[in-house]
Amino acid sequence: MAAVSVDGMIQTGPTTPVTAAGCCGANGEAYDLSKRINVDDKRLLNCAAVDVNQLMPLKYEWAWEHYLNGCANHWMPTEVPMQRDIELWRSNALTDAERQVILRNLGFFSTGESLVGNNIVLAIFKHITNSEARQYLLRQAFEEAIHTHTFHYCVESLGLDGREVFNMYNEVASIQGKDQFVMDLTSSVLDPNFTTDTLEGKQEFLKNLVGFYVIMEGIFFYSGFVMILSFNRQNRMTGIGEQFQYILRDETIHLNFGVDLINGIKQENPDVWTPELQAEIEQMIDTALDYEVAYAKDCLPDGVLGLNANQFREYVQYIADRRMERIGLNAKWGSKNPFPWMSETIDLSKEKNFFETRVTEYTSSASLVWDD
Ligand SMILES: [Fe+2]
Ligand SMILES: [Fe+2]
Repeated sequence: MAAVSVDGMIQTGPTTPVTAAGCCGANGEAYDLSKRINVDDKRLLNCAAVDVNQLMPLKYEWAWEHYLNGCANHWMPTEVPMQRDIELWRSNALTDAERQVILRNLGFFSTGESLVGNNIVLAIFKHITNSEARQYLLRQAFEEAIHTHTFHYCVESLGLDGREVFNMYNEVASIQGKDQFVMDLTSSVLDPNFTTDTLEGKQEFLKNLVGFYVIMEGIFFYSGFVMILSFNRQNRMTGIGEQFQYILRDETIHLNFGVDLINGIKQENPDVWTPELQAEIEQMIDTALDYEVAYAKDCLPDGVLGLNANQFREYVQYIADRRMERIGLNAKWGSKNPFPWMSETIDLSKEKNFFETRVTEYTSSASLVWDD
């Protein structure tokens, strides 16, 4: 079999033409079948035996399923009418505390989405040596670009200062803390000496995946969803609320893919999941929850919309328990979900098209017409 580097470049070398039924050209010349892939050789990391440019046959059906689900959910922020939000924002009907919640979340998500996209493209992608997982990562990276676009669109619609919103991750300590936490994980994988060939490298890579998929997208994002969707439940800021429902639907799939990827790598590399690594990941999640509670206090110093920072402590403990169980760690806190309506919102988004204002159906087929 031809050797293929992790970059997907086929390395030159002698190949042996093989003749078999249905394998020949019009003049009877034999095709070179030696580069056809064996599905059992596919691996998520460190696969040198399979050409990553050949998607089929699939091995990791879950990756392809997530890809299809992502495509079925396609949307653009500009489809969502913002007029009611603009009127409310310009009126006196929002308190300063309510404006603070909205601005902090626009500030956190506007750059948070870019951090996730850049981590995929610059850090994760080249180390994932499987074509169907890469296919999903390409889709996810585009979705992160759409999410960043969403915040540009919200800022522009409300007439906010884009420099202020997009620079909050440098200026606002509670946002900076969360972002620095995940940016350090990106830096570790971007180190020129980083490799997934060693046990330590694979463990560092898993920490990056946990940091982004489980913590950033699976915990940090969810407090913001609760805050913004709380306005939506009161029929206020419904444009931003609808944007966040689209993003929540996408992020649910991002989290599911991340969990499958982490568990797949663990399964193929059973030596990586040491008690020390598990303890380190539990510590990372502990630290993340401290950052998240600090963020909730900063967003809601005196309580807004019936929300307060203590509820967010319980909420992030509740969702952290669920996430930990999904990657094979024990639940730790046993807290109750103070926002049961969030589960309903997530379930609703899976089952029906709740965007009544939607004008484009991407999932319906359209015939292409060719000019002669
Ligand atoms: Fe996103
Ligand atoms: Fe995401």
